[in-house]
Amino acid sequence: MKHTLSGKTRLFAVIGDPISHTASPKMHNAAYLELGIDACYVAFKVDSDNVQKALDGIRTLGIGGINVTVPHKEAALPFLDEIDPLANAIGAVNTIINHDGKLKGYNTDGLGFILSLQEDKQYHVAGKTIAILGCGGSAKAIAYTLLLAKPAKLLLLNRTLSKAQTLAAQLPPVTTIESHPLDQTDILKNCDLIINTTSVGLAPNLDDSPISDFSWAHEGQLVVDIIYNPPQTAFLRQAKAKGADTHNGAGMLAGQGMLAFEKFTGQSIPYSFFLKTLLSQ
Ligand code: ATR
Repeated sequence: MKHTLSGKTRLFAVIGDPISHTASPKMHNAAYLELGIDACYVAFKVDSDNVQKALDGIRTLGIGGINVTVPHKEAALPFLDEIDPLANAIGAVNTIINHDGKLKGYNTDGLGFILSLQEDKQYHVAGKTIAILGCGGSAKAIAYTLLLAKPAKLLLLNRTLSKAQTLAAQLPPVTTIESHPLDQTDILKNCDLIINTTSVGLAPNLDDSPISDFSWAHEGQLVVDIIYNPPQTAFLRQAKAKGADTHNGAGMLAGQGMLAFEKFTGQSIPYSFFLKTLLSQ
């Protein structure tokens, strides 16, 4: 099927820096075509000094909505007219909807992560003991969202312990939350779900891993890396060798995109469509 652009075509976009690697246009444009939606999705490289101007441009040009990626997810907040409570708690947005010139920010990253666990692994986090490695922006989005799904316990492990302690103190005290140094890997033995949110292992550093000891890993655990390039990081490879089930970050990317698509268009499309499109050449 072919899509002809017209004077009525709605525009959506992603902003970030760098941005040329983004898979978002591929996923969203494929979904417009699939559902016959007269819309087009493009990528804009916006440098950090120009976030406010870019958001004013969204209002001025009547762009329907945007995704926001690194490094603007936190920086965009002060320039929005309204912020969804979850995004406000996380302190970052990845999706902005333009309601007649009023911009409302959302965060679908953590929800996309949980959706991918449910869809790809039939995994539910309620009652589980969960460890998050790393305490940056992605960890924060995942931690806040996981807590909505009622895990039994949340362990935050970070190279810089003070950052884990700060995040632990910020999170809503809905369950037991502990902070530990990243090398205290023995505690991972009693965890059901272990998530790497650090960027260690990202291509081209295929042999790097945030931790070197994997004696804790065993069958029955689910070990996740939010990295999807490479599809199997050294972290996942070593956990798998010890019998753990593993899952990469492609599903989180597809999930956050699908949830943003629903907000942009008001229409629904299966998560599997976004994942299939992301993984297609
Ligand atoms: P993102 O937004 O992708 O989550 P970030 O906010 O820059 O990225 O956070 C990076 C996280 O990866 C941090 O938790 C960082 O640990 P520190 O707080 O100690 O800096 C972690 N990280 C980055 N490089 C690391 C490395 N080589 N070993 C261990 N942790 C690392």
